[in-house]
Amino acid sequence: MSSCIVYLNGQFLPIEQAQISVMDRGFLFGDGVYEVIPMFAGKLFLAAAHLKRLQASLAAISLSLPPELDITTIIEQLILHNPDQGENRAIYLQITRGAPAAREHTFPAPSTPPTVFLQSTIFTPTPEAVLRQGARAITVPDIRWQHCYIKAIILLPNILGAEQAKQQDAKEVIWIRNGMALEGASSNLFTVKDDVLYTPPADKNILCGITRNFILTLAKQEHIPFKEQIIPQASLRQADEVWMTGSLKEILPITHIDDYAVGEGKVGPLWQRVFTCYQRRYCR
Ligand code: PDD
Repeated sequence: MSSCIVYLNGQFLPIEQAQISVMDRGFLFGDGVYEVIPMFAGKLFLAAAHLKRLQASLAAISLSLPPELDITTIIEQLILHNPDQGENRAIYLQITRGAPAAREHTFPAPSTPPTVFLQSTIFTPTPEAVLRQGARAITVPDIRWQHCYIKAIILLPNILGAEQAKQQDAKEVIWIRNGMALEGASSNLFTVKDDVLYTPPADKNILCGITRNFILTLAKQEHIPFKEQIIPQASLRQADEVWMTGSLKEILPITHIDDYAVGEGKVGPLWQRVFTCYQRRYCR
């Protein structure tokens, strides 16, 4: 198989040749933002919403892209540069505050060009039969910062959480902050109680997921009652269903949390209904 071609600062080149400076602020400080856009059956899924969120993340850290940079065209070219990767992919975009001469905490001169990196990788969606078996999540104290709505590349707490879940044979963590169940290391949280869908409000405590928003749109269209409201940790135990959603996790049904079963410990009927609708938006 030919080498993966990536985009870095104006060039398409084999990944082995893509190099950044050791002074890059992404490397030194984690000073940057990112996006992950899924592609299913050859079509980018909700790309406009992802790019809008990228602009919001950039604005939140006072970073801007050169106006002439056309990210959509770069993504299209990147896909064409990697014909062997097939129809299901993840497009990763990362933008950092560039590589100034000196390591200083304050922003570099505005003339410092940002580092712009894009990569296309093969993505294998989890088969429905596997999703249907359900997954386990563990609740952990939220050790992250106060600006979780920014899709920042500083992911150390998320990495520690994801690894903790893996060590305990779970697929995700559920961050708990001040008694509230918020989201996962790389996914949003939904619960179902008495046929009503709940998800935490899109405030600074969570990343406002594109998959989350899409599910809320589906719920509206399907006349499924939903509420964006705080989910107390205690209510997880009473939930009929729990799901965790994200571009790469899709809609993951959580059938066990810590040491207890969610509902009957089986994938629930509302998950099946929403997942079927979600799948109709693209052909696997
Ligand atoms: N993560 N919450 C967090 C903390 C996330 O990192 C993600 C996605 C989500 C779900 O957002 P979306 O539906 O827009 O993918 C929620 C990506 C996929 C990642 O870090 O790889």
